[in-house]
Amino acid sequence: MRVLVVGGGGREHALVWKIAQSPLVDRIWCAPGNAGIAELAECVPMADTEIMRLRRFARENRIDLTVVGPEAPLVQGIVDAFSTAGLKVFGPVQQAAKIEGSKVFAKQLMQRHSIPTAEFRTFTTPDRAKAYLEMLGQRQDGPVPIVVKADGLAGGKAVIVCDDLEEAAEAVERIMVRKDYGEAGRQIVIESCLEGEEASMIALTDGQTIAVMPSSQDHKPVGDGDTGPNTGGMGAYSPAPVIDDRLATQIEREILVQTVHALNREEKPYHGVLYAGIMVTDDGPKVLEFNCRMGDPETQPLLMRLNSDIVPILLATMDGELEETDIEWDPRPTLCVVMASEGYPIEYKTGYPIEGLDEAAQMEDVMVFHAGTKIDEDTGRLVTAGGRVLGVTARGDTIEGARRRAYEAVEKIDFEGAHWRTDIGSKAINRLSDAEEG
Ligand code: AMP
Ligand code: GLY
Repeated sequence: MRVLVVGGGGREHALVWKIAQSPLVDRIWCAPGNAGIAELAECVPMADTEIMRLRRFARENRIDLTVVGPEAPLVQGIVDAFSTAGLKVFGPVQQAAKIEGSKVFAKQLMQRHSIPTAEFRTFTTPDRAKAYLEMLGQRQDGPVPIVVKADGLAGGKAVIVCDDLEEAAEAVERIMVRKDYGEAGRQIVIESCLEGEEASMIALTDGQTIAVMPSSQDHKPVGDGDTGPNTGGMGAYSPAPVIDDRLATQIEREILVQTVHALNREEKPYHGVLYAGIMVTDDGPKVLEFNCRMGDPETQPLLMRLNSDIVPILLATMDGELEETDIEWDPRPTLCVVMASEGYPIEYKTGYPIEGLDEAAQMEDVMVFHAGTKIDEDTGRLVTAGGRVLGVTARGDTIEGARRRAYEAVEKIDFEGAHWRTDIGSKAINRLSDAEEG
């Protein structure tokens, strides 16, 4: 088979790495890819949202299967465009990808089908939104903190957790009046703030059968102890002990199955990856968000645990044959530490040489997935090319073991201004040691 992977981050490196192991695959291309991916696939210099160019490329190169990593092309209809041309492509169609592309749509879908999520209201004008906030201010039990979210895609940035109603009004102003996030802010969701621990449950679905992957947990804030601004994710591990077997079953039954059924009933059948961002509250699991694709960096530790060939799994998901497909996971935990550029996620410089990678990559049970890297054309050296640079991922017999090994590998790698969180996996390790003591 000839496979094209769309995207160029750590998630796509992990996908290409797994796809390259399949005996079914002869040749892999990746658009746009990165320096790590280039060792396994031929990189094609096209952005992930250049849908018509990508389609032409897939036709001309007789691609048998296209796998789409990021949300933007899915939300823009890449699956529809490829399918119309008779090209096989993994991911949900545009109407179904709305579950990530429009928070208003996702929240209303959950409301219509009683899927547990934070209470909310949606607004199409700033005046109405502000009037609502004023009304809340007059109530004794005014619900603060409160969360203001732009409807559309904004790389996770347009979700503002506000400590008081003034801050919330300022968030409305930024999103709807100043249009800081452009068209994404034409509508907003204002919702109550959930308390608890976050985790991700990611599933494959062919529209009928749901195959839930092991749980995982991301670390969104840039700093240790969950401080500082949110990022795309500074690290992840799998499994997440906050989701025990009972809770996993509950999330599958009450959230994932319900959502797939809801989409079917609303004539938006879903094929692909459905990612539920969950807050584990005292009142049970609640949906923070849905994504229409694998997580980044959750994919890196998850795919390192996947023992099965990924290609038949992707094909079965597209062909409605997931029920007959065995998916085997390694029970051993994995953990990924993201090494980022200085200043990320606000402002950062790129082009710095990366050292020590070979030594780290040679370690047993370690995979260094590239995110923002490239080969400098003038010097031929590997250099940084993005905010998130590397996802150093390791396996261990325990989460603690995986963490030790991942940080050992991180210590071998160096580039100017490199920074990373030093507490990836701490919540899991504390939870497990509390449980042992208790
Ligand atoms: P989202 O893109 O909707 O998942 O939001 C990004 C991040 O904002 C989440 O991962 C949470 O950390 C936080 N967040 C979003 N909605 C809420 C909420 N209702 N309560 C608390 N935190 C939230
Ligand atoms: N790591 C969070 C996400 O992929 O949305």
